[in-house]
Amino acid sequence: ATNRTFTMLKPDAVNKGYIGAILEKINAAGFKIVAMKMTRLTKNGAQEFYKIHEERPFFNDLVDFMTSGPIVSAILEKENAVEDFRVLIGATNPADAAEGTIRKLYAGSIENNAIHGSDSDENAAIESAFHFSGREVFSEDI
Ligand code: CMP
Repeated sequence: ATNRTFTMLKPDAVNKGYIGAILEKINAAGFKIVAMKMTRLTKNGAQEFYKIHEERPFFNDLVDFMTSGPIVSAILEKENAVEDFRVLIGATNPADAAEGTIRKLYAGSIENNAIHGSDSDENAAIESAFHFSGREVFSEDI
C-alpha cells in the first residue's frame, strides 16, 4: 500500500545550498512530494518535536542546531515510505552511512546530519501533523 513519511532538510543542508540536490535524489528514488515548505523551528517547537530525546545528553545541542536557521519540511508518498526513506538517507552518523546515501553525500557529522526521516508510520503521522495542516497536503487520497 502507498504510504507516507515525513522529512526535514536540516539547517546545515539548507545553509550549504543542498536543497535542490537532495530533493532530486528524493524524487529519483520514487518519492512523491505531497507537502513542502521552508520554515524555521522555534525553541519551543524544536523541544516539542524532539521530546522523545529530552533526557539524552545531546538534547540541548540538538534544539540549538535545529533552530539555528531555516529548514525545509516535507511529506513524501511512496509504497513502504518510512523504511525505504531511511535506506535512502543512510545511518544517523554519516561516518556509518552507506555509499550513495543522502547523509553520506551531504552530512558533516552525527549532529549536523543534513536530513530527518520518520522512524515509524505512527511517528510519520505525528510529525506530519506537527508541521502541516490538512489543507497543505496534496494527494489523490484527499
Ligand atoms: P535524527 O535521527 O533525525 O533525530 C535525532 C537527532 O539527534 C539525530 O538525527 C542526530 O542528528 C542528533 N544527534 C546528535 N547526537 C546524537 C547521538 N549521539 N546519537 C543519536 N543522535 C544524535
